[in-house]
Amino acid sequence: MKKPTMEANIAVCPGSFDPVTYGHLDIIQRASQVFEKVIVAVLKNSSKTPLFSIEERKAMLEQVTQDIPNVEVDSFNDLLINYMNERNAHVIVKGLRAVSDFEYELQMASLNRKLSDRIETFFMMSSNQYSYLSSSIVKQIAQFNGPVSDLVPDVVERELRRKYSKG
Ligand code: PNS
Repeated sequence: MKKPTMEANIAVCPGSFDPVTYGHLDIIQRASQVFEKVIVAVLKNSSKTPLFSIEERKAMLEQVTQDIPNVEVDSFNDLLINYMNERNAHVIVKGLRAVSDFEYELQMASLNRKLSDRIETFFMMSSNQYSYLSSSIVKQIAQFNGPVSDLVPDVVERELRRKYSKG
């Protein structure tokens, strides 16, 4: 049995956040009530082609989390476990929406633990009203000018409209 570590109670919520949705915000808010500090970490170089730049994604996240004092927004361009070591964090927090998320998340959590046995992944079940929500779905709706006000905060809706109105 390993001895408990004395590391600070810091959690990292990693993701693409392209853009942040009410589903992400739900997980960030709930995690902020459990951990002393939550770092929302936006992945810089993903294989996906993002709609929003890293600065735009961070700016939106900063605005929508401004009332949660123990949340910090940052970005990383590395293996997640390297970033976690750099930030002295050992808990990854992820939201699980449906069974379809499980396989991918199991793979990521298992690999991260294989890469570093000091890392733990904690899963939180998404609140029911957001179980269908994803950034890709939001972008699809916004692209065709559909209603997204129940899915993303106002600032994100405005940014989506601005992006898509440029054609
Ligand atoms: O929001 P996403 O796109 O599902 O987030 C995926 C993310 C950023 C959590 C994942 O791609 C990640 O951790 N990337 C960093 C690179 C890394 O560590 N990859 C190995 C994970 S086993």
